[in-house]
Amino acid sequence: MRNTTIAMAVAAAVALPAILQEARAETPVERGSYLVNTIMTCANCHSPKGPPAAVAGKDFSGGLTFDEPPFKVTASNITPDKETGIGAWSDADIKKLLLTGVRPNGVRVAEVMPTSFYPILTPGDLNAIVAYLRTLKPVRNKVPDPIYKIALPHHIVPGAEKAFTQADLKDKLKRGRYLATIGHCLECHTPFVNGAHDFKNSLGKGGREFPGPWGVSKSRNITSSKTAGLGSWTDAEIKTAITHGKDKDGKPLKGPMGYQYYAKMTDADLDAVIAFVRTLPAID
Ligand code: HEC
Ligand code: HEC
Repeated sequence: MRNTTIAMAVAAAVALPAILQEARAETPVERGSYLVNTIMTCANCHSPKGPPAAVAGKDFSGGLTFDEPPFKVTASNITPDKETGIGAWSDADIKKLLLTGVRPNGVRVAEVMPTSFYPILTPGDLNAIVAYLRTLKPVRNKVPDPIYKIALPHHIVPGAEKAFTQADLKDKLKRGRYLATIGHCLECHTPFVNGAHDFKNSLGKGGREFPGPWGVSKSRNITSSKTAGLGSWTDAEIKTAITHGKDKDGKPLKGPMGYQYYAKMTDADLDAVIAFVRTLPAID
């Protein structure tokens, strides 16, 4: 009898913070900040980078340059500065860019900007991202104009064609799929074959090379293959890799994966992403 009472009291104490959290609804700006600064890693590309270190106070004012055969582009200034950022864009302009890759002037962005993955965004999350971008401090910084050598394609990643609903996000596995999609995990973790991602045959197989200040890294196999992928890893080991950049043996992982952004995700969201990653069919 006494034990039951104690057990119930403990259960109530444990459950309380969760109830409090649910009672306090997140504002759109808070939700936007959470998405932009964790799973969507916008600043990983759009902020100036070292070496030696990121430049304080210049977040979102322009960042990495991608010099590839079809184009040479620099991640844009996405602060609300009217002349050098996106301060003169309407909310609808920003949403159109995120969903279709097309700017207000009709020019399409290169697909390194992961717009192929964003049509899955719920209408609420899309609004939240725009609301948050509006709160950024305007920073004046002119980014070099893009150079395009071919007419750029726009793909939509399989599974991302249609906006998810709020109800979808209540299902753990669907939420995991959603977060992994807007986090474009499989963009980096799927090899390029003949100039396009081979999502059909090699989803999650890894092997793409990323040159950077870290040297050259190669994305790893994150399918459920027991030998080549994550099949023999525990959830805790996968979580440490994603949030702390350490592999199963504790060895540090290199960029450009945004470990420090993922470290700020809620446990529930990380668990959902891991549950989804576990469903990737094994490829050796
Ligand atoms: C993998 C790197 C990467 C990530 C992650 C990324 N972007 Fe981009 N983004 C770019 C690059 C590169 C460009 C410029 C492409 C070009 O000029 O063709 C760009 C362009 C843009 C533009 C167009 C701005 C203009 O002036 O034309 C907007 C708006 C934008 N990104 C917003 C975002 C937001 C919001 C996020 C996060 C939700 C994000 N980006 C995530 C690389 C990235
Ligand atoms: C911008 C590219 C990029 C994105 C986005 C990205 N990764 Fe990675 N990831 C890499 C690279 C590159 C490595 C290997 C780094 C190394 O070998 O030092 C890696 C390593 C890993 C590892 C360690 C695997 C091992 O065998 O050590 C896991 C797990 C992982 N990524 C999962 C994810 C998940 C889940 C997401 C989405 C939330 C994600 N990654 C997003 C590029 C990326």
